[in-house]
Amino acid sequence: MKVALAEAPIRDVAELAQIPISFRVERVCEIAAKPGEPSAWVLTEREIASPYLKDYDAIAREGPTQWAKYFDLTNWGYFRAHVDSRLAGGVVIAHRTPGVTMLEERGDLAVIWDIRVAPGLRGLGVGSSLLDAAEHWARSRECTELKIETQNINVAACRLYAKSGCVLQAVNPQAYPELPDEIQLLWSKPLKAS
Ligand SMILES: CC(C)(COP(=O)(O)OP(=O)(O)OC[C@H]1O[C@@H](n2cnc3c(N)ncnc32)[C@H](O)[C@@H]1OP(=O)(O)O)[C@@H](O)C(=O)NCCC(=O)NCCS
Repeated sequence: MKVALAEAPIRDVAELAQIPISFRVERVCEIAAKPGEPSAWVLTEREIASPYLKDYDAIAREGPTQWAKYFDLTNWGYFRAHVDSRLAGGVVIAHRTPGVTMLEERGDLAVIWDIRVAPGLRGLGVGSSLLDAAEHWARSRECTELKIETQNINVAACRLYAKSGCVLQAVNPQAYPELPDEIQLLWSKPLKAS
């Protein structure tokens, strides 16, 4: 399998909609405070009784074809991966963009807006390579921190971020009133200058 990863123009980002972001939820992460360390967390996994498919792109106003309608993407980064010349995944990084609350109006913060790998090619290292590329991009723009939002129902993403050196910074069970079973997890990775 030959993986080719390259930065691409942000104007092409709608092409990522070709790659399903959906995943099957069979297990969820349980999060507990580390004894004696109130802001540190331990993640364990629990199987759920009724597995289901989660699809972020199915949410109204979400997905790669929508972002340019709501935000100015001028300062965003986009890397795509091809496997044997087929689009296999991508990562999108938001930076210096009014209206993106997660950016906290900080020029030294970048947010992983989207990361996805084609279902048949997951688990082969493509996601890790995309995340590395995003980190490098953020560092080259003098960012000192990378931030990522996910949910406790996304075990693969949580494991990827933890393995990549991200630290769980916030656990918000009430973040999605319409999805009471999902807990918002905010991950952060401090970036050293390259
Ligand atoms: C999350 C995602 C991008 C990971 O990409 P990937 O190419 O499969 O990840 P990698 O192969 O680089 O795996 C890196 C690490 O992530 C973790 N991981 C990946 N898939 C996993 C899975 N199904 N279950 C548990 N851990 C998993 C492992 O720790 C893995 O390291 P290891 O192989 O040494 O065990 C991919 O699963 C995906 O596209 N999911 C749907 C889209 C999505 O949820 N995006 C994130 C939104 S917040």
